[in-house]
Order: sequence, then structure tokens, then C-alpha cells
Amino acid sequence: MSKSSEFSGFYKLPVSERVKLVKGFAGLSDEEAGLLEKPSVLSFDVANRMVENLVGVMPVPLGVAVNFVINGRDLVVPMAIEESSVIAAASNAAKIARMRGGFHATSTDPIMIGQIQIVGVQDADRARLEILAHKEQILKKANDQDPVLVSLGGGARDVEVRFVETFLGKMVIAELLVDCRDAMGPNAVNTMAEAVAPMIEEVSGGRVYLRIVSNLAVKRLARATAIFAKEALGGEEVVDGIVRAYAFAAADPFRCATHNKGIMNGVTAAVLASGNDTRAVEAGAHAYAARSGHYTSLTTWEKNADGDLVGTLEMPMAVGIVGGATASNPIAKIAVKILGVKSARELAEIIVSVGLAQNLAALRALAAEGIQRGHMSLHARNIAISAGAAGELIDKVAEQMVAERKIRVDRAKELLEKFSKR
Ligand code: MEV
Repeated sequence: MSKSSEFSGFYKLPVSERVKLVKGFAGLSDEEAGLLEKPSVLSFDVANRMVENLVGVMPVPLGVAVNFVINGRDLVVPMAIEESSVIAAASNAAKIARMRGGFHATSTDPIMIGQIQIVGVQDADRARLEILAHKEQILKKANDQDPVLVSLGGGARDVEVRFVETFLGKMVIAELLVDCRDAMGPNAVNTMAEAVAPMIEEVSGGRVYLRIVSNLAVKRLARATAIFAKEALGGEEVVDGIVRAYAFAAADPFRCATHNKGIMNGVTAAVLASGNDTRAVEAGAHAYAARSGHYTSLTTWEKNADGDLVGTLEMPMAVGIVGGATASNPIAKIAVKILGVKSARELAEIIVSVGLAQNLAALRALAAEGIQRGHMSLHARNIAISAGAAGELIDKVAEQMVAERKIRVDRAKELLEKFSKR
């Protein structure tokens, strides 16, 4: 008989009791259960307040990408990611970019959209006009919900109305535009959207259903551009190769998903390190890439008159430096301190610069030498370690496996035995 996962009252138990239950359910060893309970920088007390049913903390390596110059400022960028090569690649691209002045980044005001779905409206045009006619009252009601945000210069700024054709007929969607200042902002936006819903129902004559922030944050964009010198990239042929790789991604969604994934390697790692919501940024990125109806590249690449490569990245960047995990996770706080940012916009500008660097590094590797070479030596080190190698034997075993093009644990074990005997 299969075991039941119905643990009644699980959430009320202390963490140690939860671990005991999961241990029994999954047949974990004492050692495995001990690892779950091992103290972490993120204490159980704090983590337990962040999520429900906590049984442990999942560690992710945190590194720093070096060499970055962004808007004239030298920076090291904390990145949290499990994938090898990513941080080295970003650092390398940043080194090339700094030869031509580094990254230039800008951002819009941090405006998020709160959507209010109205159905059952008799006359959509009239409902739209009525909502817009009551804009000032709606904005006041919204801003009454968050005096702190308003005192910091943020708050609801505008109301827009759109019509959406659905398989259930036409819907009227009222959109509240909220300046979230240094917060990521969904809580403020959702609270405001909920608060104005009754007023919107009344003036539109319809019925409100959903009231929720949109992750397609087209009014909270960050942009970065940089020039990469052709000599540093490996010559004009590499520049042409990168532009060709971009053309492929821009035209073909199958390639483009991977191309944009490469951008998100950098973006998500920097977003996670700063304690922000990686899923919100990912959702916004891919929706933005598909906004024309054709899923395409978030970056652009072209050759300038000197034969150098010019790249740009523009994407929604809903990140904050106050509230949420940025405030509760001690490592996120340190990451923000390392960056030395004083506003959410500055953080967004750094993150897009990392995304652009990451894309350059991937395309350069693909166009110039194939991605596997760099990946393989790091992968080989990991395999050597998992075969039991330590100290200088790690590199020795890894190098031999790369030379033989046999990167497997069984071969690593053989080599380890051979080298250990000497
Ligand atoms: C691997 O994590 C990311 C790449 O596949 C991105 C790309 O293909 O552009 C290298």
C-alpha cells in the first residue's frame, strides 16, 4: 500500500517534528535528515516565517561577477546560481565591455500594472468612459491604502481601460498604474486593486472578478547597452558570427528560448542573490519577448562602423530593495550592500547589464568555439569531485578526462586510483 501524504496539522508542528515525518515518509537516513536540519545563515526562525511547512533550507552557491563598469561605476555583482561557467562568463564579458566604457543602463519609473477584470458590462464604451471620468476618486481610494508609499513619492498614478476579446465575450479591464518606488510592489498593487474594485463595479455597472498585479511590467523597464571591441572578441569574424546567432534567435522560437535562457542565467542569478522574486522577472521577460505575437530575442546585436559589436537588452525588471526577502534574507541584504545600490531602479539597471553580458558570453562561445569546451572542464572537475578526488587530484583527473574526452564517473574513479598510487 502506498503511504499517505496527508499529514494533518503538519503546519502546526515544530520544524524538527516535520523533518521526522518527512524522514519516515521518504525513508531518509539519519544523515540526510541531519542535513535538512543543519543550521544555515538563513535561520529556521526567519525561513519559517517566509514559507509554510518548512523542513530545511536549500543552499545555492553565491559568487560574484567581477570587472563590471555600469554607468561609470565599478561593481562586483553577487550571483546565486547552481550552474557552472555562468559567473566566469559574465565576468569575462564585463572585462571586454569595460574596454569601451562598460555598460550604459537606464530605466523607467518603477510603475507596475494592477489589473481589474470587469465582466457582464452592457455597454463597454460607456463603462470605459465612466471609469475614466472617476479617475481622481479611484486614484484617491487607491492611495489611501498606502500612505507610506505615497509619502515616499510613489503611489497610484493613473487608470487606463482596455477591452479584451475572450472566448466568453468581451471583457473590460481597468488597469491601475502604481509607482512602487523601491519596493517590488505586488502587495501594494494588489491591495489597491482590491480596494478600488467596489467603486469600479459601481461606475462600470459590471461585476469585478480578478484584481491582481501583472508581471508583464511594460511600464517598469530597464535597458542596457555596451560595445564589445572586435579584437577582444577574437576578430571581426566572431562579431559576424554573433550577429548571425542573434538573427537565428530573432527568427526562430526554438533557438530563441535557449538564447533568452542564456540571458536569464545572468538575470535570474542576480535577482535571486538580491532576494527578489525570480519567477516574476522570468514571467515578465518571456511575455515581453512575445509581446509582438512572435517570441523573439530580448537582446539585439549589430556591428558598428568600427567593426565592433554593439548589444542592447531591454526587459521588464520588477525588483525591489525594500520589503520581501530582500529585507528578511541576511545574504540578500549583504548582496545589496555589495552592489552599493540606493534604489530599485539602480538594481534593475545592474541586473539588465548582467543579462546583456551573459548573452554576449554565450553567443561568443557558441560562435567562436562551441559552448562545450568551457563547460566541459568545469563539468570534469565536478565529476572528479563526485568520484572522490580532493586537492590537486581534482584538476589532474579532470584534465586527463577532458584530454581523453571521457568525462564519466567510472573513468574518474579509474584515474583517481591510478594517480593516487603514484
Ligand atoms: C546554457 O545555460 C545557456 C546557453 O545555452 C545559452 C545560449 O545557447 O545562448 C549557452
